[in-house]
Amino acid sequence: MIRFLFNEQEVVLDECSPELTILEYLRTVLVRRGTKEGCASGDCGACTVVVAEPEGERLRYSTLNSCITFVGTLHGKQLLTVEHLESSGRLHPVQQAMVDLHGSQCGFCTPGFIMSMFALYKSTASPAYGDIERALAGNLCRCTGYRPIIDAALSLSGQGGEDVFSSLESATSARLRKIRNDNPNGSLQLGDRRFFLPATCDELVALLQAYPEAQLVAGGTDLALSVTQQLKQPAVLIYTGAVAELNTIHETEHCLQIGGAVSYSRLEPQLKRHYPEFGLLLDRLGSLQIRNQGTLAGNVANASPIGDTPPVLLALGAKLHVRSGNRCQAIEIDDFFTGYRQTALPTSAFIEQIEIPLQQDRLLKVFKVSKRLDDDISAVCAAFNLRLEQGVVTDARLGFGGMAAVPARALNAERALIGQPFTENGVRAAQQALAQDFSPIDDVRATAEYRLIVARNLLLRAVLEQDQRFTGQPLEVVQYA
Ligand SMILES: Cc1cc2nc3c(=O)[nH]c(=O)nc-3n(C[C@H](O)[C@H](O)[C@H](O)COP(=O)(O)OP(=O)(O)OC[C@H]3O[C@@H](n4cnc5c(N)ncnc54)[C@H](O)[C@@H]3O)c2cc1C
Ligand code: FES
Ligand code: FES
Repeated sequence: MIRFLFNEQEVVLDECSPELTILEYLRTVLVRRGTKEGCASGDCGACTVVVAEPEGERLRYSTLNSCITFVGTLHGKQLLTVEHLESSGRLHPVQQAMVDLHGSQCGFCTPGFIMSMFALYKSTASPAYGDIERALAGNLCRCTGYRPIIDAALSLSGQGGEDVFSSLESATSARLRKIRNDNPNGSLQLGDRRFFLPATCDELVALLQAYPEAQLVAGGTDLALSVTQQLKQPAVLIYTGAVAELNTIHETEHCLQIGGAVSYSRLEPQLKRHYPEFGLLLDRLGSLQIRNQGTLAGNVANASPIGDTPPVLLALGAKLHVRSGNRCQAIEIDDFFTGYRQTALPTSAFIEQIEIPLQQDRLLKVFKVSKRLDDDISAVCAAFNLRLEQGVVTDARLGFGGMAAVPARALNAERALIGQPFTENGVRAAQQALAQDFSPIDDVRATAEYRLIVARNLLLRAVLEQDQRFTGQPLEVVQYA
């Protein structure tokens, strides 16, 4: 059984197919069709809904793509759709602003935009232009154009997030906490197909032993596509998002330990504090809806050669703490990717934590090259972690994505860098050595030749960004206002 609030109404679900998405549930079971389906793959934002979860006494409002989120993940949360915003015949301030500033034409994208603006309204009292761009980057509009929509969002700045939900916030938070306390773990089933929500690592271990064929779901932003695009019907899904230990971030003197179910959005503040360059990469990873759900562990475990974070984790020398039964082991990220979409993760194991060393006096540079700035997959992603002493490279770890069947270090280029000055001339040998490290492929995103040229140029760019002559000069094509 799972229990959640649909606005103020409690819903109890027991029998239901494990892969039922929130969008399907809304449109076909509840027949609430305000939430639209466009792409069914997380790309267009037409299906955006908001989920509220207790955070202290308050609620944290986050957007997600309902087309790629399983309904089972709603246990202990509040689901809000565009139908819930109007109250006593009055539009929500966000809806009124869209009307007043002409932010809608055909209206197909509008519910999704409204929900993204609503979550922003509830979470940021005075959003800056950049906050609005970030909040709306996962919503596509094909007829109105973005200026009136952004104007509508800007017009709400400074209104303080007050609305019909404010007076109910602490009562709603208490109701949600009670659901979690009464039913810490939930489940759904249809025939012998199951969706489980363990609340502890020990419960997760027990489920993996009982159901060795089970698939883990964290944010589901990769896995759900196998359902919506390939029409797969997983027999058993185990959701990691309710496991308390996997939702923690620990900071020690030497490292950050990031739980296997921590979303990018929750990780962002700490990552930006310790690794601003890594934090900025997150702004370019998917959209806010994707970052509110997606996890570092999912990005690593799916072992995509074009995942954004593995190159950075390789450059930083991260370690994966994995658990299988009662056995815990640490796997160096260098040893994790064993082949195309294959990893060293043992059977029935899961990533408990990703440990990222905290480093001082080193230079980290991170670059993502893709066709669009927002919500696009990399053609090449590169991360350079260097120790420089008096301008000379004394240690180097270079991580690349998009250059091989797996995310990988450029060991030849690293060797060629060490001992050289970090200058245009000093990196030449390393640029050449990249051809020994990688034989990239041609695909829809880029040709092999383009990838190699870009990889080489990124080394040069890292030099230019460090060069005193250019410091302070914008090298970015686009900067947030
Ligand atoms: C529209 C869209 C845009 C995207 N943009 C980007 C992008 O810009 N850059 C990018 O890199 N990716 C992108 N992605 C891919 C995806 O969002 C990321 O890979 C994300 O990090 C996956 O995390 P998740 O928690 O959603 O994984 P899930 O889909 O839940 O899981 C992915 C895989 O990891 C396994 N897994 C999950 N957690 C664990 C664990 N703790 N231990 C062991 N195995 C586990 C699952 O079983 C599954 O096999 C995008 C996806 C979409 C739909
Ligand atoms: S329908 Fe396009 S993101 Fe969900
Ligand atoms: S108003 Fe038609 S797609 Fe946005």
